[in-house]
Parts: sequence; C-alpha cells; structure tokens
Amino acid sequence: MSFPSINPTKTTAWQHLQQHATLAKQWQMTKLFEQDPQRFEKYHILFNEILFDYSKNIHNEQTLAYLLDLAEECKLVQAREAMFRGEAINETEGRAVLHTALRNFSDKPVFFENEDVMPQVREVREKMKKFARKIYEGKYEGYTGKKITHLVNIGIGGSDLGPVMVSEALKPYWAAHLQIHFVSNVDGTHLYETLKNLNPETTLFFIASKTFTTQETLTNAHTARAWFLAQAKDEKYIAQHFVALSTNEAKVTEFGISADNMFAFWDWVGGRYSLWSAIGLPIACAIGYDNFEALLEGAFAADRHFQEVPLAQNIPVIMALLGIWYVNFWEVKSEAILPYDQYLHRFAAYLQQADMESNGKYISRNGKKVTYQTGPVVWGEPGTNGQHAFFQLLHQGTELIPCDFIAPAQSHHQLGDHHPKLLANFFAQTEALMQGKSAEVVTQELQKAGLSPEHIEKLLPYKVFEGNRPSNTFLVKKITPYNLGMLIALYEHKIFVQGVIWNIYSFDQWGVELGKQLAGNILEEIKTKTILHQHDASTAALLQTYFHWTEKG
Ligand code: F6P
Repeated sequence: MSFPSINPTKTTAWQHLQQHATLAKQWQMTKLFEQDPQRFEKYHILFNEILFDYSKNIHNEQTLAYLLDLAEECKLVQAREAMFRGEAINETEGRAVLHTALRNFSDKPVFFENEDVMPQVREVREKMKKFARKIYEGKYEGYTGKKITHLVNIGIGGSDLGPVMVSEALKPYWAAHLQIHFVSNVDGTHLYETLKNLNPETTLFFIASKTFTTQETLTNAHTARAWFLAQAKDEKYIAQHFVALSTNEAKVTEFGISADNMFAFWDWVGGRYSLWSAIGLPIACAIGYDNFEALLEGAFAADRHFQEVPLAQNIPVIMALLGIWYVNFWEVKSEAILPYDQYLHRFAAYLQQADMESNGKYISRNGKKVTYQTGPVVWGEPGTNGQHAFFQLLHQGTELIPCDFIAPAQSHHQLGDHHPKLLANFFAQTEALMQGKSAEVVTQELQKAGLSPEHIEKLLPYKVFEGNRPSNTFLVKKITPYNLGMLIALYEHKIFVQGVIWNIYSFDQWGVELGKQLAGNILEEIKTKTILHQHDASTAALLQTYFHWTEKG
C-alpha cells in the first residue's frame, strides 16, 4: 500500500470536530463578520487571477485548525507526494495517477516504473500541435480537397465531458471557420441530430476512448463510419476523416484507424482526468494549440500551488476541508456548483463525473465499509438561470446546501449592461444566502407597503429567510485558457484531498460495471425477444411490455 489506510473517524481531530460542530451549529455567519473585521482578509486566497473567498462559511480559526489536523492525521502530504511520485495509488486497478505529468512544463522528470514519462508526453504534444495547427489554420483538407469545417468528437464520460466543457467554456477562442460537436449518448438521436446537417467532405471525427471498448462510443463510431462511407465510398478516405484518441492501439487498428492517425495516452491517465492528454485534441483544434497549451500551463500552476503552498493557504486543501466539514459534521448531502458564465454551462456536469465517479464510494482503503459519509451529490446550473429554478430551495429549503459561485470579472462580450446585471446577481446571491432576512425587516417592508397587521402576521413566516447558508466564491478575472486550466485543476485536487481523508480509492470506478454487465444480458434478450436470464418481476414485466409494444415495429 502506497500510503497507510487511516480511518478518519478514529483520529483525534475527528473527535474534536464533532464536539466543535455542536458549538458551530449555534453560530451566525453575520455575527462572525461583525466580531471580526478581518474575516475576509483572513479567509480569502488570491491566486494569480483567481480570488477564492471562503469567508462566507460557518467556521472560525479553530475549525480550520482542527480540519488541518485531520489532514495531517490522515497523512495528506504523504498521499500527495505518492501521487506526484507516480506510485500505484489507484490500487484496485494497479495504476499510477499521473495526469499531472501531462501538464508538467518543468524540466523535472516524472517517473513511472523507473522510466521518465516526459519524453513520450512531449512527443504526443508535438504530434497534437502539428495536427491541431493545420485544422485551426484551415489548412487541413478532406477527401475532396475541401477545408475541414466540422469537428465531431465521439466519446463518453471522461472522453466527452472534459473536452465538451472546456470547448464550450472557451468558445470565444474558436477558429471562425470551425464548429465542434460532441456525440456521447448511445441513443441514435444524438448522432442523427449531429450529422443531419453535416457534409462528410468537411467533417472530421475524433473517436475518443481510453479503452476503445466502450459500447456507446464504438456504436456511434461505427455508425459515423458508415455515414461517411455512404458518400465517400472508398475506405482509403477514412484516414483523412477519422482519428483516434486512445491508449489501445490494437483496438484502434482493428476499427480501421492506422497508428499514424492515433494520438496516444497512457494507462496512468484516468478517464475523468484525461482532458489534458490526447483526449484534449479536439479542444486544441478548435481554440488553437497555443491556447490549449495555455490551459495546460494554468493547470500546471495549480499543481505547483497544490504541492508547494502550506496547507492553510492551499486552495484545493481548504475547498476539500470545508466540504468535509459540512458533509461529515453537518450531514450535508449535496453541493451546488453555480457558474455565472453561460460559457461554463457544462462545468457542473463535468464536475459531476470528476467528483462523483471519484468519491461516490462506500468501501474504504482497508476493504471494509465506511461508517461515515463520503462524496456528496454534485449538481448545478449557470446563474442566473438557476435563480429562477432551484434557488428557492437553496434559500428556504430544509437541506443545507453549500454552494460554489464562480464568475468572471470581465466578460468576453461588451453587450449593453448584461455583465453588470449578471454580476450584481452573483454578488447578491452569496450575500442573501448568508444574511437572510429577519422578521423585523420583513415586517417593516410590509408595513411600508400598507399591509394590515393581520395580513402581515399571516405572510411573515413565508417571507423570512433564516440565512446562514454557506458559499465559496471564485471571482476569476476572465475565463481565459490559462485561468480555466487553473480552476479545473484546483477542483481535481480538491477531489483528491477528500478521497485521501475519506480513505477511499478515488481513481477507480467499479460502481459503473454492474449496469454494463446486466445491459449486455438484456441486449441479448431484446435482440431475440426472449427472456433468457433470471429477472425480478418488475424487470421481467417491463421487458415483456416492451416486446409487446415493439412487435409490429
Ligand atoms: O463509465 C465509466 C467510464 O469508464 C469512465 O470512467 C470513462 O471516462 C468512460 O467510461 C469512458 O471510457 P473510455 O474512454 O474508455 O471509452
């Protein structure tokens, strides 16, 4: 075992935090601000062009001290070193976790099984650079000599969510002649709707799959290939229109894509941490290789911050510890991610996989079931849309839901007063969540509006906001490739820190296997219209109804 398995509930810090939480549950954040005029000064971190403000949380210095003790007792520093050193910390799959090597721009080697991986990383980056430049500059031609104008990424999970999130977030950087599309769902509708207005002569497909065995991706890839050949006729043209992003050369070749058209990555890159690898090629083509490299540089800056800055000023460590504070000592079940930036509209979806596939686990690193909560549900939507949908529950629901608010100070577009209005809402919401609205204030407002005392009495409880709802704020100067790279990597490291403290294996995903296995059996039954396997009564009846309803096509 690369670092020891430690049950966090057996640490002294955990006991302290439990007692401390009973006190903290009496606190009002507004009072904490009144008592300490330095509260913002103490609880914010300025990291390049990201201001991380965590002062609107229900904590004080003692809370942080206990949380930092917890990190120490759980050997966070040792675990962090083990990851960066390339130890096989993904123990159940026997793999190292080295996505950080993909954005290592230092001249330091990164060893995996005694071999420096950096030369291969640089080699693939060079190959990506040449390819991406041609596409970005409009110099890449399809089989009839027409310029490639449409990029279609076929992949799912980590081979989709990272690239789609980043491409959308950096849309202002797209080459003017390019459109980029993402197909992930095995539902044929996804591919159909994407291809219906495209021309095979000007379309380039990226088949993105770490394993190159994923059912959804391979099904979509074969259908896309058939769609292409229906017009191009000759298989020799495949080479110009299909590239593979994968670790599995044998399967790529079997599909019909030559090694020349394959951009490789390695076993030590987890799927949900792979956007920095060849999986990022569609991003590089759309925004230009230099911008892609700036994204990696930003992530590298976050890696150094995570490795070098003392834990008490370390953004991912603080994010992780505050998350643990709420999940384990306030029984919090979910966290909301609220980017006030339309370009970040897939950010929460991306983090759902990054976080929930990593830390949604009940078996600890000693093989036993945990006795405490691990990963929360992560969800969210961009503001201000969310305000008109689920913010009611954030403000007055019975659940406590800590929120991360993210916004750029500068917009990519100067459109009237849109951005001031967006940011006014952004700032107002964290204030409203914390301050709430007292019965006195509500009464005064209703009196002013001329309501009768009886009417006021009746309405009052509905109009009061208890407040004291915690949030983190990330104010980013502008969503540039570099700043986005930093932001994503900070979240990646937050997830890592939480996994270490929860004593779980954050880099495997066995929980996705069972459904795939059963779907394999059921597909056989659907194809033969016969129940061949043992099913519960519900599933059997659903299948029979499905057979009946599809009998006549
Ligand atoms: O759904 C599980 C999973 O293995 C993810 O972890 C991964 O990102 C996704 O499937 C896609 O896998 P691949 O890149 O091998 O097609």
